[in-house]
Parts: sequence; structure tokens; C-alpha cells
Amino acid sequence: MRPLGELRAEFPLLETCTYLNSNSTGAIPRGAEAVLQRYWKTLASWRDEAWAEWIPAVGAYADGLAALVGGRPGTVITDSNLSVLLGRLATCFEYGAPRNRVVITDLEFPTVPFIWKGFERYGAETVIVRSENGRIDEERLCAAIDERTLLVCVSHASFATGALLDLRPVAERCRATGALLAVDAYQSVGIVPIDVQELGVDFLLAGAHKWLCGGIESAFLYVRPELLPSLSPAATGWMAGANPLSFGPTEDYAPGIGRFASGTPAVLPALLSRPGLDLLAGVGVDAIRAHSLRCTTRIMERADEAGFQVLTPRPPEQRGGVVALRFAGDAAVTRRLVERGFVCSYRGALRVAPHFYNSLEEVERFMDELTREAHDV
Ligand SMILES: Cc1ncc(COP(=O)(O)O)c(C=O)c1O
Repeated sequence: MRPLGELRAEFPLLETCTYLNSNSTGAIPRGAEAVLQRYWKTLASWRDEAWAEWIPAVGAYADGLAALVGGRPGTVITDSNLSVLLGRLATCFEYGAPRNRVVITDLEFPTVPFIWKGFERYGAETVIVRSENGRIDEERLCAAIDERTLLVCVSHASFATGALLDLRPVAERCRATGALLAVDAYQSVGIVPIDVQELGVDFLLAGAHKWLCGGIESAFLYVRPELLPSLSPAATGWMAGANPLSFGPTEDYAPGIGRFASGTPAVLPALLSRPGLDLLAGVGVDAIRAHSLRCTTRIMERADEAGFQVLTPRPPEQRGGVVALRFAGDAAVTRRLVERGFVCSYRGALRVAPHFYNSLEEVERFMDELTREAHDV
């Protein structure tokens, strides 16, 4: 890994506070400032020819994301948020019985149950697998998948508890029953290694402004390339056509991942996210994961010493990058910590999320402060 001091210098935010909030919004590197300036110059001297540079730049960024998750070039499309991409994906399917079930869990980000409940009006039947002690048991999840399952739509790492799902048995069960597997990897991509091809994941959705240190409104969807010819989203737009720049009426979808585009692409978020992706890829997700586990293990040790309840599973293979803690007054303590420049977040529990740019000393300082604040309640 590049020396930590050198890496930290790339992130101005780290000079202003103790930032352990990367599961909510990651720090963005200073390279993004040059992107903004260049974008402004392009707007200020506008010619339509700017698109000839922007479209390939967005495509190259998407290919960089594909490489990060083990996908081939041409398998990732970007858009403004995960919700819009999942909704679009949902419009690819017929929901006729007997294969009309969508299996999710009760640890999903609210977008997931919201969308699938919405698709019940088109015949989808949502099956919710319950968590135990903040995590989903893979065997129970697999038992809910059968020949009636159209799609399994689960998060790799939980936004609430940080629990990490072992995708391997789930992908195998999907293959055995003919179900498709869509993974919400927003809380794992960039902090936990993932290889979509090796796992046989059909769809993977995530975004850049958390662990990928990218711009806000920058999400993406990976689609297993073999599936592309059979998928035609109904929630679509002119850019998904086979020849969008003809501006003629079209019913033919682009042959590749372009069929998951919609209208005018979100250019700036993609451009802003490139510097973070490059930095991250340079460090490598394996090295990031090793550093993350060192930091989160230490957070758990300190939480035990302080008598906090640790909601995140203990075994390293069962947790992502965040540690969720519960104790009396945790919401108020989170607010006070943030006010004092010890930045973390609260979703039913206090969430601490170190990334590759955080040092172990910072983690200790944060836990000193947290312990002091919690004991003052
Ligand atoms: C696991 C997970 N999925 C989805 C989202 C939200 O995605 P978006 O706002 O891009 O629709 C989040 C954001 O916190 C998340 O943690």
C-alpha cells in the first residue's frame, strides 16, 4: 500500500476533522477540484462537441468500475443513483406465476423493499427473509429460493449492521433453481473484494460517493453480459436506443450495456468520481480490506472495553467496513461527536466506518472521544 501519509494528503477533508464516516459519504480526493474547474471551462465556452469527449470519458469510467468488481469492459452503466437503476432493472421482467417471486431480506436499504412492493402491482411477490442478530443466515436465505423465484435481490454488506453476506452459496442456489441474483453492493464495493464473474452474480448495483470516494449522484449497474440480449427495460429513454444520435423514433435497444441508459447521461458525477476510483484501484481492494479489518477489529475491542453493544458480527468474513454500536444515548452522542469534528453517522445505531485513508491512531482518538462522550451521558 502507498504510504498512508502520502495518501492522506490527497484528501483535504482529513485535515479538518477525524473522519470515520465513509459508509455514508467517503472523502473525495483533491483531483476532483481540477475536474470541476475543467467542467466549468467547458460550460463557459460551450459547444456541442463537448459530448465527443464526455461520452467516452463516462464509458471509460464505467469500464474502470467493471474492472474493480471483476467484470469485463462494456458491462457497467452509470446513472445518478442506485434506486433509479434498480427500478429500471425491475422493468425488464414479466411477473407471471409460477416464477414471480423476488427474495429480499429485512436488512435491505429501504429502496429495495419499496421498489419490490411497488412491483407487486405487476404481479411480483416479495418474500422477505428475516435476520437474526443483525445478520442473514445464508442457509435460511437459500431455503427461501426455489423454482418460483425470479430474482434474489440482497445487499452484500448491510447498511445498518455492517453484516457481510457470503454470496457464494446464494449464487449457487440461484443457479440451481434458475433464479437471477442482483446484489446491492453499495456497502461493499471498494472495501471488500468482489469478483462478479467468479461468483456468477447476474446484476450488481452500487454507487461512488461512499467507499469509492467519488462524486454525489454517481451510481452504477453491472449486468452479466450473457443476459444483455434478453433484457429490455421498459423504463427507458432515447439513449438506450441502438442509434441514439439519429434522434429518430426507435424500438431497437443498444446491443450492449447501453440498453440500460436512459436520457442525457449524468456526466459530472462520473467525471468527479474518476480520481477516487483511480486512487482506490492503485491501492488495491485486498490491501484496503486488510487495513479495514485491522481498524474495525480495534474498534470492536475498544467498544467491548467501554461496554457498548456491538451489532456487527465478529468474524471478519461476516462483516464489511462498518461497525455499528448501540448504547444509552447513542443518537445524542453521535450528534455531539459530529459537532466536535469526530464524524460518524447514526442509523438506529452509531456507525463507525474507517477507510484506507484513516490511521489506527485516528481510530484510537475517535474511540477515546466516543468513550468519554458516552460516559458523560
Ligand atoms: C446498501 C445501500 N443501498 C442503497 C443505498 C442508496 O442508494 P441511492 O441513494 O443511490 O439510491 C445506500 C445508501 O446509503 C446503501 O447503503
